[in-house]
Amino acid sequence: MTKNFTEENLTEAVIERMADCPNERLRTVMESLIRHVHAFVREVELTEEEWFEGIRFLTATGQKCDDVRQEFILLSDVLGVSMLVDAVNHRFPAGATETTVFGPFFREGAPETPMWGDISGGQPGTPCYVSGTVSDTAGKPLANALIDVWHSDGKEGLYDVQVEGQPWYGRGRVRTDENGRYAFRTIQPVYYSIPADGPVGAMLGALRRHTWRPAHIHTMVQCEGHHPVTTHLFVNGDQYLEGDAVFGVKESLIVDFVPHEPGPAPDGGTSDVPFVTVNYDFALTPA
Ligand code: BEZ
Ligand code: FE
Repeated sequence: MTKNFTEENLTEAVIERMADCPNERLRTVMESLIRHVHAFVREVELTEEEWFEGIRFLTATGQKCDDVRQEFILLSDVLGVSMLVDAVNHRFPAGATETTVFGPFFREGAPETPMWGDISGGQPGTPCYVSGTVSDTAGKPLANALIDVWHSDGKEGLYDVQVEGQPWYGRGRVRTDENGRYAFRTIQPVYYSIPADGPVGAMLGALRRHTWRPAHIHTMVQCEGHHPVTTHLFVNGDQYLEGDAVFGVKESLIVDFVPHEPGPAPDGGTSDVPFVTVNYDFALTPA
């Protein structure tokens, strides 16, 4: 075993040190990580100042994290790592609803709402009636599937968890009926900026990247015997569909929010203001 570590042999030396690790997967992941990090240092010929700036940045990223703020996940999101992890873990067959990022704003404990229940929490905005079906990839309707829904407000683009002292809004859980149908009512969310007041925001600024996400409704659909799907319904026509800061957009998830004049609404009531309707059918892969 060599003691004389050089630019040429250092990578293999570090990898050799892990030879006794009994956890094979950990060894595989760490070996690949070391090879790629070392290759990166060689490729860009990282200066000591740059190395220290990297350490400083990662330290600040950790220091920005608390119970409600996860700056490392945000970093992973804006570097496209979250979407890549999502892609390699959800290679569902054609016809299955596509997945996208989970994001940091989900909150446990949202109430279950009945058919056409209102999850807006009284927020101002354009009334939005969302309905459709949950089926399996063969088209069989799935009864009793559970859909968690969460989204930002309809004016500022903030989630309830981002507003201090704010009780919940824009969250609910809806279940499909015996025909696999679901329906709920809310307000149409608007586009918004990811949290930009931390080191990740500063990094994006230095890279001349914007911090916007196109308007969307988050959904997490689960049904016994099927792979759950975490995804979004993106508002067709949104100005940021092309440049989502976290690379979450997929064509199949862009949905028409169809505008209507005041009048009869799909829940059987009447809207005295203009409203939108959204129809989306989810397809789950049998487990
Ligand atoms: C979100 O859609 O809630 C989100 C996703 C990634 C980063 C920030 C926000
Ligand atoms: Fe979101």
